[in-house]
Amino acid sequence: MKAYEINEFGIENLTLIERDEPKPQANEVLVKFHAASLNYRDLMMVKGFYNPKLKTPLVPLSDGAGEVTSVGEAVTKWKIGDRVCPIFMQGWLDGEIDFSKARTALGGDLDGCLREFGAFDENGLVRIPDFLSFEEAATLPCAAVTAYNALFCSGSLKSDDTVLLQGTGGVSIFALQFASVYGARTIITSSSDEKLNRAKELGADDLINYKEREDWDKAVLDLTSKNGVDYVVEVGGAGTLQRSVNAVKMGGQVAVIGVLAGKGDFNPTAVLMKAVKLHGIFVGSRQMFEQMNLMICQHTLKPVIDKVYEFGEVKDALKHMESGSHFGKIVVKI
Ligand SMILES: NC(=O)c1ccc[n+]([C@@H]2O[C@H](COP(=O)([O-])OP(=O)(O)OC[C@H]3O[C@@H](n4cnc5c(N)ncnc54)[C@H](OP(=O)(O)O)[C@@H]3O)[C@@H](O)[C@H]2O)c1
Repeated sequence: MKAYEINEFGIENLTLIERDEPKPQANEVLVKFHAASLNYRDLMMVKGFYNPKLKTPLVPLSDGAGEVTSVGEAVTKWKIGDRVCPIFMQGWLDGEIDFSKARTALGGDLDGCLREFGAFDENGLVRIPDFLSFEEAATLPCAAVTAYNALFCSGSLKSDDTVLLQGTGGVSIFALQFASVYGARTIITSSSDEKLNRAKELGADDLINYKEREDWDKAVLDLTSKNGVDYVVEVGGAGTLQRSVNAVKMGGQVAVIGVLAGKGDFNPTAVLMKAVKLHGIFVGSRQMFEQMNLMICQHTLKPVIDKVYEFGEVKDALKHMESGSHFGKIVVKI
């Protein structure tokens, strides 16, 4: 079968190789992948920024979707033809996360989805909603589950809450869609007015261009009668965290998710004085993924795909993500 491997860091060093097709063990299922999607983590992984000590060779990309083509003799949950996504952390099925569960992430600890076939424990998969294509389903395991966890598991979003979303990448657009169908008010920031207008079409209530308004935290306070928002989906990291804490209401929650905005100083005083809940998020469990899929089905929510690349165009897909010009998700056909 064909697979991509990281052997040396750098997009140009990604290699397309031939590997033996995996043979499923008794409790395993063989999945033929039809699509995979990119997350910012995958880009960092390929470039060597995520884990400079990464064990190689490694098949990158945590997220994929495909169909079951054979099952081990002890498998009871799946049959040939079932449409499935592997979960991000193969060992995190439910309950709280711990170190042993966290060390089972695809495209990092374990080989990921940028290959034609993969064998997975029968517990490490979820069923794809019928109305989603493989390309659409491949966007769910990391970005969508992370957004869902932030708002509904670590958080408990209510329909009269206000949510601040940063930028228009994968996690933020899923969070926008989820918060919007839930009836919450959404404020979204972006570097681009064009992207903000697209976000409006998806249901965003208030728009802030953070290139024009570097003090976007003040703009958020102005939009919320100086109270601040109930939730921030914080994907910038050190470069945005201070302003996120400024923009959240007293007792509000900042879901600490990403590192897109580089370096910055952080003074925790406002966290204490406003009793802000800073909640670190690491994707989510299988149970969260299944709960999320129920919500996706109930509202027939379609993931927003910026562009679908052919299998041979993976390097272009990664460069597209690196440019930051995308809106929502980037997908690779397999
Ligand atoms: N903790 C977890 O479990 C988890 C899970 C998934 C992702 N993440 C992290 O979350 C972050 C987002 O991931 P992703 O896959 O959604 O990324 P992505 O799709 O690549 O998002 C990129 C977009 O983020 C926006 N952005 C960049 N710098 C920004 C800034 N300074 N302020 C506001 N927005 C900015 C830009 O949108 P505009 O052009 O609209 O400004 C950019 O296009 C990454 O750091 C990723 O590693 C963490």
